[in-house]
Amino acid sequence: MAVGKEVYLDLAEGVKIPALGFGTWQASDEELEKAVDCALEAGYRHIDTAYAYENEKVLGRVLRKWIDSGKIKREDLFIVTKLPEVGNRPSGVVKYLQRSLDNLGLPYVDLYLVHTPFGYHERGDDLHPMTDKGMIDIDLSTDHAAIWKAMEDQVIAGKARSIGISNFNEKQIERLWNCAERIKPSMLQVELHLYFQQKDLVNYCHSKNIKVCAYSPLGSRGSSQLLGKEIPDVLNNEVVKSIAKKHGKTPAQILLRHIIQRGIAAIPKSTNPQRILQNLQIFDFELSSEDMEKLNGQDQGKAGRILDFSFFKGVPSHPEYPF
Ligand code: A2P
Repeated sequence: MAVGKEVYLDLAEGVKIPALGFGTWQASDEELEKAVDCALEAGYRHIDTAYAYENEKVLGRVLRKWIDSGKIKREDLFIVTKLPEVGNRPSGVVKYLQRSLDNLGLPYVDLYLVHTPFGYHERGDDLHPMTDKGMIDIDLSTDHAAIWKAMEDQVIAGKARSIGISNFNEKQIERLWNCAERIKPSMLQVELHLYFQQKDLVNYCHSKNIKVCAYSPLGSRGSSQLLGKEIPDVLNNEVVKSIAKKHGKTPAQILLRHIIQRGIAAIPKSTNPQRILQNLQIFDFELSSEDMEKLNGQDQGKAGRILDFSFFKGVPSHPEYPF
């Protein structure tokens, strides 16, 4: 991997995604507007959102400001958004992608992902409809083959340049792969970080030429409130700290560079201007194979997972769980 050059991954024909993107999950409206401004100023061009994050309108406002002022061209941006759980049916693909485009104020997105393998029944605009028993109202009739046909139609209609999936397990990807007749999924976005390296899933995806994007690449410390528990501090890992010292870099930069050198994209989230900039400054150094091996050795396998969807009440009872 060349030093001093930003890294891109090839998705569908001619579609290139900047390997380092800007994550926006769990950023509130006011802080997000400033953070996106700061990220674009720093040089991020790949920005990740989702209908279910409820922040597309804010992101769209900032993007339009930059595009309208001529500071940036639409084609220089790489915008990713996702189909929400309540839209996991063919008609939902059409409806929710159009809603996302309206929110973002864009005629197309660069990558549209099916956010989760499980779907919810739709009740009004409720993103997390609950049953009388206080459980999420899961729709067990979710049909990935039919959803994927509708996803392919969106590429043909020019509303998405490429399509993929998020949070699918290997079995579900294989099933989807086999029924994807016109366009294969080009990207899988999943939780992936030092303690949860997803080696088997990454190998499987790469064998199918599906690129992988890591969410929570810094270990998702911001999720401790959502989960109501302490989350291991991957930034304080001794191996990471010693490699950081050797290269004159921060632990976050080592964690991100490790992922990028594995041929994986990453979307760290930050609302802090220094950290936003710092997370992008990972293209001017290289980890040695010895560094890589030490970092690979920190994997905790399945035990390293933080976001297992048990925070959505009832989802773990889905017949295909865990995802
Ligand atoms: P903040 O927004 O205050 O910077 P992940 O992308 O794995 O979910 O991690 C996001 C969390 O990590 C947020 O809490 C974010 O806080 C923090 N974070 C982001 N970048 C850095 C960094 N370079 N160093 C330390 N913490 C960071």
